[in-house]
Amino acid sequence: MTTSAGAPMPTNETSETAGARGPLLMQDYQLIEKLAHQNRERIPERAVHAKGWGAEGTFTVTHDISDYTCAAIFSKVGNSCDILSRWSTVAGELGAADSERDVRGFSIKFYTEEGNWDVVGNNTPIFFVRDAYKFPDFIRTQKRHPRTNLRSPEAMFDFWAAQPESVHQVTILMSDRGIPVNPMHMHGYGSHTYSMWNAKGERHWVKFHFRCQQEIRNRTNEEAERLIGQTRESFQEDLFNAIEGGQFPKWELNIQVMPEADAETCGFNPFDLTKVWPHGDYPLIPVGMLEFNRNPDNYFQMIENAAYSPSNKIPGIGFSPDKMLQARVFSYADAHRYRLGTHYEALPANAPRAARLHHYHKDGSMRFFPQLTGHPDAYYEPNQYEESARPDPSVMEPPLRIHGDADRYRQDEADADYVQPRALYLEVMDQAQRDRLHANMAGAMAPCSDSVKERWYAVLEKVHPDYAAGVRNAVEKDAVAISVTDETPTKVAE
Ligand code: NDP
Ligand code: HEM
Repeated sequence: MTTSAGAPMPTNETSETAGARGPLLMQDYQLIEKLAHQNRERIPERAVHAKGWGAEGTFTVTHDISDYTCAAIFSKVGNSCDILSRWSTVAGELGAADSERDVRGFSIKFYTEEGNWDVVGNNTPIFFVRDAYKFPDFIRTQKRHPRTNLRSPEAMFDFWAAQPESVHQVTILMSDRGIPVNPMHMHGYGSHTYSMWNAKGERHWVKFHFRCQQEIRNRTNEEAERLIGQTRESFQEDLFNAIEGGQFPKWELNIQVMPEADAETCGFNPFDLTKVWPHGDYPLIPVGMLEFNRNPDNYFQMIENAAYSPSNKIPGIGFSPDKMLQARVFSYADAHRYRLGTHYEALPANAPRAARLHHYHKDGSMRFFPQLTGHPDAYYEPNQYEESARPDPSVMEPPLRIHGDADRYRQDEADADYVQPRALYLEVMDQAQRDRLHANMAGAMAPCSDSVKERWYAVLEKVHPDYAAGVRNAVEKDAVAISVTDETPTKVAE
């Protein structure tokens, strides 16, 4: 054992004191160092998605998609790269129970030879809102009330009732898929529309789907409540033990593809994050397989320090006009600089593994890596040194035609907002699933005021009258059950 400066340590048990009974000597610097380190072991938890579980693995390309993208990783079937996952709940803090009803984050970092590509998605193909202005308010409603310091169903349903576009995601959240058994039994989605461009400079719009190769498995509220009573760490236990025991979870990466020009004519806004692209119109195209086969040796180093960002893209894969995605391109790197520090990308979880690094960022916290610009005097660019790093115009994205006036546009198409949740409710779910949806939603909104309940029923009514009636009946049935339970002791006393 050594000090952190490398000197041998004589003891790790006994403080240096004046006499056998003390007091302590201030020169026992290693004790001070030890206590000081303990005080600095926590960093800010993520503002959202604080509780998470992760693993390392390999991505292998199984199908040729070079018609759509010139990304080197997709240039040949059989190509592979390291990957790092982090799955998470959204609202709970770092110590939250794993089996709570919530959307799950689904983040994958692909360490490709052209740099790190991050897909920072969810286990749902859509989201609650479609404009970034609404994201911080939405998250407020998911976190704690400033006065009670409790989660507030009143705030959640008040907000959702004012955003009809949220009903699609709330339906998924309150459905069976709102509590997966663990991260290994759920699909993942990039959710946003992204773009790909090929060697000819042709652009396509794409959606990413990670199809779970394990069975989709979920828990009911009652099962989850029982489980949380036994363990709050069920996802971590299941994932860690599966990988440790040689059972490696897998997902197949698929894409949906839309030619660039079709975005103008396809009949809906393909950049609206509250809508899916129907499979019938845009079939899934298989791309490759992700297999997670290594538990990180140090959770904090690889998972807590992992910094995912939709801004991490590689040549051949690009953004889209989706305004939520555009806002996220800014937000994540900003969050990482606050949570982890200036050079967070030099940490082992975030540093490129397969790509050469040649950037000109200079000093600041965590500047522990050498200058990588190819020449000792090339700390700025352009410069006179031939061997120094230069930008490469061949990886430039093809130009994107934009039209329209700069303005603040509201996408008011309330009727269209109900079409897809209606398809989910009527055509994808069977009656037993609908019944559980009604009961789950009723349980979640039971504490809300009548005015919030009525506003939310009005939103459900527009999806389908059976949906509104089903939830209303379940709320009223629960209310009767609660009042009967409340009255029982009085009756006994009489
Ligand atoms: P499909 O019948 O081809 O697809 C339905 C999809 O819904 C399947 O992927 C299915 O997953 C998934 N699903 C089943 N139950 C739930 C649930 N409780 N929560 C979330 N997803 C669920 O139809 P369409 O593509 O025409 O879509 C119909 C509706 O299905 C959409 O309006 C949307 O609400 C929902 N959906 C669509 C997706 C898409 O990308 N098109 C993706 C996910 C949901 P599985 O494949 O495991 O059976
Ligand atoms: C985490 C912002 C929408 C998925 C985060 C974090 C921020 C953030 C600041 C914490 C990052 C960190 O500290 O490491 C936003 C903003 C959004 C938005 C501003 C909308 C404008 C979304 C959407 C998805 C998503 C639509 C999924 C499709 C995630 C995931 C994480 C995360 C998975 C956790 C990443 C990890 O595992 O470390 N988000 N988010 N977010 N967000 Fe978002």
